[in-house]
Amino acid sequence: AEDGYDLWLRHEKVRDGGNLARHAAAVVAPGRSATALAARDELMRGLAGANGAAPALVEKPMNGAIWLATPASAPDLPVKLDGLGEEGYAIRSVTLDGQSVTVIAANGDAGLLYGAYAYLRLAETGASLDRLDIRSAPRMKLRLLNHWDNLDGTVERGYAGQSIWDWWRLPDWKGPRYTDYARANASIGINGTVLNNVNARSDSLTAPYIAKAAALADVFRPYGIKVYLSVKWTAPMELSGLRTADPLDPAVAAWWKAKAAEIYRAIPDFGGFLVKANSEGQPGPQDYKRTHADGANMLAAAVKPHGGIVMWRAFVYAHDNPDDRAKQAYSDFKPLDGQFADNVLVQVKNGAIDFQPREPFHPLFGAMPRTPLMMEFQITKEYLGQSTHLTYLGPLFEETLKSDTFARGKGSTVARVIDGSLEGHKLTGIAGVANIGADRDWSGSIFNQADWYAFGRLAWDPDLSAEAIAREWAAQTFSTDAKVVDPIVAMMMGSREAAVDYMTPLGLSHVMGTGHHYGPAPWISELARPEWNPVYYHKADAQGIGFDRTKTGSNAIAQYAPPVAKMLADPKKTPERDLLWFHHVGWDAKLKSGDTLWNGLIRHYDAGVAYVAAMRRTWDGLRPHVDAERFAQTQAFLGIQHREAKWWRDASIAYFQTLSKRPMPPGTAAPE
Ligand code: GCU
Repeated sequence: AEDGYDLWLRHEKVRDGGNLARHAAAVVAPGRSATALAARDELMRGLAGANGAAPALVEKPMNGAIWLATPASAPDLPVKLDGLGEEGYAIRSVTLDGQSVTVIAANGDAGLLYGAYAYLRLAETGASLDRLDIRSAPRMKLRLLNHWDNLDGTVERGYAGQSIWDWWRLPDWKGPRYTDYARANASIGINGTVLNNVNARSDSLTAPYIAKAAALADVFRPYGIKVYLSVKWTAPMELSGLRTADPLDPAVAAWWKAKAAEIYRAIPDFGGFLVKANSEGQPGPQDYKRTHADGANMLAAAVKPHGGIVMWRAFVYAHDNPDDRAKQAYSDFKPLDGQFADNVLVQVKNGAIDFQPREPFHPLFGAMPRTPLMMEFQITKEYLGQSTHLTYLGPLFEETLKSDTFARGKGSTVARVIDGSLEGHKLTGIAGVANIGADRDWSGSIFNQADWYAFGRLAWDPDLSAEAIAREWAAQTFSTDAKVVDPIVAMMMGSREAAVDYMTPLGLSHVMGTGHHYGPAPWISELARPEWNPVYYHKADAQGIGFDRTKTGSNAIAQYAPPVAKMLADPKKTPERDLLWFHHVGWDAKLKSGDTLWNGLIRHYDAGVAYVAAMRRTWDGLRPHVDAERFAQTQAFLGIQHREAKWWRDASIAYFQTLSKRPMPPGTAAPE
């Protein structure tokens, strides 16, 4: 539909129909499990759209057929499946008794589903289907969305309308949108979803809500998606009147054991718990002088007999590091390495501050070799323009995943920390804070859909490039025509850097307005806690700007492995994009461009605004190629973004100029 409801699963008729007609005239799908049937139906539905005619459903492989096969349904499968696990798949063009057949094969039915979607992706992005020989398995075991959805229907940091969970009418009414949600997620490999906000309420663990979660789990199960819940630490006190939530109190542990058993009776494949504890006012084990490990392990013991896991968040800040909030997660968690039970993962936010437009990689990655660390990305764009700004997050995710921690020498990338290959962990995962709501287009804008898509694709394979993902997405969402894909991908690829430029250039951070985090407010200084104030982060004064995190300052750089710390100690060696994150730099210091810092800052603000202006021109040129509704939405949103990029630039420069007292560089406009 032109309102964006179909996401990247539009299944428009592909341009080279011959290619598909030759290879996908029929489907053989012997499997009978719910998941095998879902794979069959998705393939049939997609091919019907892409090929313009439904394929025949046949019993035996024949010329031009696609054969969905597992060892269980086809014992003499002509494809090797070792190394693919339960979720991986192989797609191969083979000749059987002189007939050319495309086999989509997997060890398990979930693999068939992912293989079916992969085949459609190939067909719908214009790939040749002639001699396929593809093997693919997910690098991460847990590929999860985290919904920050409240039980009252609001969504914390949601910019796409109300929650899609209709708690009032669950469990009886399971609307069709839940199935479409599961299809969209399965198509990009997501295999789990945490239904409720990390700022959890105890109610989510009461019998009525367990029944509602179970109803959703029933809808999602055929699509390989498990349900998880965020829990509030003090639930035993709030729900059952226990006098404490001390994790070492036997009554507390017994309460959670019983609660877990109750959940598993309703949801036999329940995934487990996500916990935000002792952070931003949430209760936790530290309230009882216990550690995060004490808390996580107590919950882990409760779900362990059922095969569940605990994801314990490392996003903590409160008390111990008044000089630098960026240091607290490391200070609290690093000493606990080796103390967590084997079904616990520590979930580390992308960035030690908070999902900024750019943050250097979190120092915990690589620093806890004995603990599986999960990545937590934010797909919803709390700090990146929310629903209207076009800021494609693929490059942000890619940049972090490829960052080198040097934990075990060169090549110890963040991707290799979280996929377990660096330290040999089997339990691995990645989470994305969802940007999904009840808006028709799910994500608040057509282009925000790409961030959901990119997250899923990178969770499956963190080595994919953000650009290749943007190409896939644009081809499936708009058209395979290069006249459309090329300019759209070009717009997308520079869009996040543009937002960094007009919001927080050269390593600045957290200068957004208090609470809503939307527009510029670098001048705010009067809030109760120092680390709530933008001035705490940029530290601009008459001499210069930036947060000194070297020895002469907070020494946060010491939390990185020695080769990284050494590089960051020297402003000349620090990547310029992170300069002001790590250093307080004089206004007249020279940048690589030869500009002074002051002039360079202004050129970055200007470049960000100019990029948005250029996106507007590009988009206007696409009018003949995009349907009216989606064209108009993006055109209007780019107009908003352009106006607001200028607002960011002008407000930031005007404020910083009161401190720098430097003139505008030649050729730049004074702030309005
Ligand atoms: C940010 C965000 C909060 C959220 C928190 C978290 O601070 O603004 O809304 O609760 O992150 O990740 O727990």
